[in-house]
Amino acid sequence: EPEDTLARDGIGSLDHLKAATMRCRECPIGEFATQSVVGEGRLKAPLMFVGEQPGDQEDLQGHPFVGPAGKLLDRALEALGIPRDIVFVSNAVKHFKFELRGKRRIHKSPTQREAAACLHWLEDEIALVQPKALVALGATAARSLMGHAVSVTAERGKWLERADGRKVLITLHPSALLRVLPDEREAAFDAFVADLKKAKKVL
Ligand code: URA
Repeated sequence: EPEDTLARDGIGSLDHLKAATMRCRECPIGEFATQSVVGEGRLKAPLMFVGEQPGDQEDLQGHPFVGPAGKLLDRALEALGIPRDIVFVSNAVKHFKFELRGKRRIHKSPTQREAAACLHWLEDEIALVQPKALVALGATAARSLMGHAVSVTAERGKWLERADGRKVLITLHPSALLRVLPDEREAAFDAFVADLKKAKKVL
């Protein structure tokens, strides 16, 4: 049996998830995006990172966390000595939501309804990868993974537990680091790395 085949109803592989999410119109976002972007990394990875949704670059390239936020995530993983290919990296929402301003596509956060509509795809992915633990990168991921609103400011660096028993480490979305004032950026990056360090023990 191929490694990416799941003995379970529903989504049997990441290719299947890609095809199914490409067609998904359960919320309005998919109609305007270039393509869906599903998670990537090691199947059966012990640790799964969950972001918000693909950004402009991810939408164009079809891969998660390859734009500016992805570069920051890569830098943090590198600082921790975690090769990206031993973890799994995904998003709460599988299509890019944006607003057109001239020729620029400006990221728009998904609504709660949109994230809720996409949740079954994320749960399929979790069932496929079967991570021991997850990292919620920001409030959208935290809400989707936990099933209720989470204050990232209050809970960052802490482990919460899902209904399925899996632990979820709460931290910021890396793009939040891009909005920090230049003077404070290094400290903010170090704090992000310190949060993620807590997830190293599951590897
Ligand atoms: N931001 C996210 O949340 N996910 C990506 O894949 C890229 C940027």
